[in-house]
Amino acid sequence: MPARININGVITEAGEAKIPVLDHGLLFGDSVYETLRTYQGKPFLFSRHFARLEHSAQGIDLRLPWSKPETLAQIRQTLIPGECRIRLMITRGVGEVSADAETCTDPSVIIIVVPLTAPPEHIYNEGVEVVISSVRRSARFADIKTGSLIHQVLALREAKARGAFEAILLTADDKLSDGITSNIYLVRDGTLLTPSHDAGIVGGITRRVVLDLAKEMGIPVSEGLFGVGDIDGADEMFLTSTTREVVPIARVDGRPIGGGHPGPVTKRLLQAYRSAVQRLITED
Ligand code: PDD
Repeated sequence: MPARININGVITEAGEAKIPVLDHGLLFGDSVYETLRTYQGKPFLFSRHFARLEHSAQGIDLRLPWSKPETLAQIRQTLIPGECRIRLMITRGVGEVSADAETCTDPSVIIIVVPLTAPPEHIYNEGVEVVISSVRRSARFADIKTGSLIHQVLALREAKARGAFEAILLTADDKLSDGITSNIYLVRDGTLLTPSHDAGIVGGITRRVVLDLAKEMGIPVSEGLFGVGDIDGADEMFLTSTTREVVPIARVDGRPIGGGHPGPVTKRLLQAYRSAVQRLITED
């Protein structure tokens, strides 16, 4: 897959991109990151992603070496033709072989740009299968996107082994939290239900747009704590993320949701999201 990599301002092909083995991002997952995508070749909602990156960096006491305009300029220089998926990472940088972050002086910025692989259109028409993961989500640090992603790796392995597109992670006390890399929603009696921040979710950029759209469209929204039992009473379910937009969930652990087909509220929100993208494309 053709990719372009920017490491501290030096742009190369993927094969030439190298980071020192003593970078604490590699040794300890001591890093923060964002996943962005382009629409019409422009990084989408960059300011919102940068604000979340600042929040993550603050959460682990990491200094961002580049300002917001500098970061955007560097991303733009790294883009490849066509729509891109962009991973923006800041690592703690080189230090001693010890978890002591004070041995690291210079954080590194890594920008990875690959062609965007959007999900095939049929999944939006048919919906996807998800499973309830055996991996739990810890509420602590949940909304800080760090490079310590072993839980996501294991949850995705498990989901794929079970033939699922995504998995829903529960909190330690059995509440619905997030997907592996998505936010999740239920629709019950016309109301949109979604786990609140107390459920250890990532404050998704797509989630914010979708909840704002729901309010504009007069769809009641309830953010709160929900259990697996609430899935049984759901008329519809869907998930959202930057790269996947709004994806209907047809089955959970093999049980059909709302007859196993995307429901009307989900379809309306997907359509509204795609229209909103055209409007939000002009937002920095
Ligand atoms: N994931 N929840 C989790 C746990 C996530 O990792 C993500 C994003 C989301 C959705 O957030 P957004 O709408 O801002 O993409 C929710 C990205 C895509 C990733 O990990 O690559």
